[in-house]
Amino acid sequence: MLQYKKSQVKNICCLGAGYVGGPTMAVIANNCRHLKVNVVDISEERIKLWNSEDLGDIPVYEPGLIEILEKTRNVNLFFTNELENSIKEADMIFISVNTPTKVEGFGAGFATDLKWIESSARKIAEYSKGHTIVVEKSTVPVKTAKLIETILIANKKIIPNEPQKTFSILSSPEFLSEGTAIEDLENPDRVLIGGDDDNAIRELKMIYKYWINEEKILVTNLWSSELSKLSANAFLAQRISSINSISSLCEVTGAKINEIANSIGLDKRIGPRFLSAGPGFGGSCFQKDILSLVYLCRYYGLVEVADYWEQVITLNKWQRKRISGLIVDKLFNTVSQKKILILGFSYKPNTNDTRESSSIFIAKDLLSNGAKLLIHDPQVSASQIENVFDLKEGDFYSKKSEGQWEYCNDIEKNSIDVDAVVILTEWNEYKKLDWAYISSVMRKPAWIFDTRGVLDIEVIRNIDVNFWQVGNGFF
Ligand code: NAD
Ligand code: UGA
Repeated sequence: MLQYKKSQVKNICCLGAGYVGGPTMAVIANNCRHLKVNVVDISEERIKLWNSEDLGDIPVYEPGLIEILEKTRNVNLFFTNELENSIKEADMIFISVNTPTKVEGFGAGFATDLKWIESSARKIAEYSKGHTIVVEKSTVPVKTAKLIETILIANKKIIPNEPQKTFSILSSPEFLSEGTAIEDLENPDRVLIGGDDDNAIRELKMIYKYWINEEKILVTNLWSSELSKLSANAFLAQRISSINSISSLCEVTGAKINEIANSIGLDKRIGPRFLSAGPGFGGSCFQKDILSLVYLCRYYGLVEVADYWEQVITLNKWQRKRISGLIVDKLFNTVSQKKILILGFSYKPNTNDTRESSSIFIAKDLLSNGAKLLIHDPQVSASQIENVFDLKEGDFYSKKSEGQWEYCNDIEKNSIDVDAVVILTEWNEYKKLDWAYISSVMRKPAWIFDTRGVLDIEVIRNIDVNFWQVGNGFF
């Protein structure tokens, strides 16, 4: 696509080489070969992995990412811990650092912990030179741009023989989903730019225009842009809690969740996507962004609005507990010493990310009840699971519970004598398993719990196994 005026931006820097910083900058570097892009992180370990000789060892698994890195890494895309120089030479700096929920102090459990945003702003204030456009890519509470601006302005010292430091602040939140990050970045539904400096907006627009149609690039004020991101995630999560609430009603009435999702999804005002019932939403963002929204509403005295959105999370937690409860219930109300095969540990397919995965919560419930779990996931390693549980393979879950876990490399082999198989992530390969064989080697009475609704009921009906499927109940 042709550019309409020569850009002043030649060097870009991104603070944060995570699930957003890495893929986003890879796509920019690939589409804008004239730009030099430095992706900087404070974690040496993470940068070492991004620079792994074997691209299979990079820290983020995303379909299509390796192919882009083959063309760009160490050509015009660099992963580095060199914060000072990268900031110094950058004309535009993206902030893609983590913004988790605060765990201690005022607002703990709800408010966003902005310490990484603040430290990024302080580093930019310290090292930047001349004019710098600062772009918020992280998801932040509305008004965070003001915080960044205040820090930048308060710290811009006049250095003799150097041009005065000046800044423009933009918001351009990222809407990618993990597992489809490259596809989402290459062909987004829309891109948002929030700000009030026309020149800075034009510069960022020029970058996006290299591969995105101008009609998809929306310009808003800073606060609308920041709040659009929190709102989008809240609306998406709300749909999942809504369909999950109906799934429980289906199970007691004989209605079928797929038929309902299909029939309501055909209404154009509702639409078909994000209507898959499951074990509750996971991922690093939905819960923390809704909590942030709830905190903001309470801060502004909007108590009823806060309560409304908090209910989305309450329902999500309830769905997880409901599922772990019914597994224990069907296994004669005790899973102590029983072997249970867990299929899927990532929070969704096509990613190795386990943050807030419902698998963790359901697995922990089973471990605390004494189960022996065999855990399989095509992309999550044994060491990742060990870190998540803070429990080594084979060790007891606690002093009071003899729950243990073991990594499973071979599903068919590990199905021998298990009491139950629980599908928690809808990896494609699970749909294609030989369920007749698996059921035949399980200890009887055997159970399959399909929390993602991916198995064909008609196929399972002909197999000698007890079956539960989300939104369809028991067979
Ligand atoms: P992440 O935890 O994977 O990565 C953040 C990285 O920032 C870490 O590697 C951390 O070491 C680094 N960092 C922290 N402070 C730094 C500093 N001062 N300088 C340099 N590096 C620093 O997080 P993520 O999943 O990439 O998410 C980043 C932001 O993007 C969050 O605000 C998140 O809400 C938002 N977001 C995430 C997704 C997603 O799918 N993960 C999608 C859209 C938006
Ligand atoms: C979500 C949003 O979809 C992105 O637009 C946003 O940029 C991102 O959060 C973010 O801000 O981090 P992500 O969490 O990667 O993306 O994945 P989703 O596809 O939204 O799935 C989130 C969770 O909801 C998963 O656990 C998934 O299994 C679950 N889900 C999703 C359902 O249970 N049912 C559905 O119909 C859809």
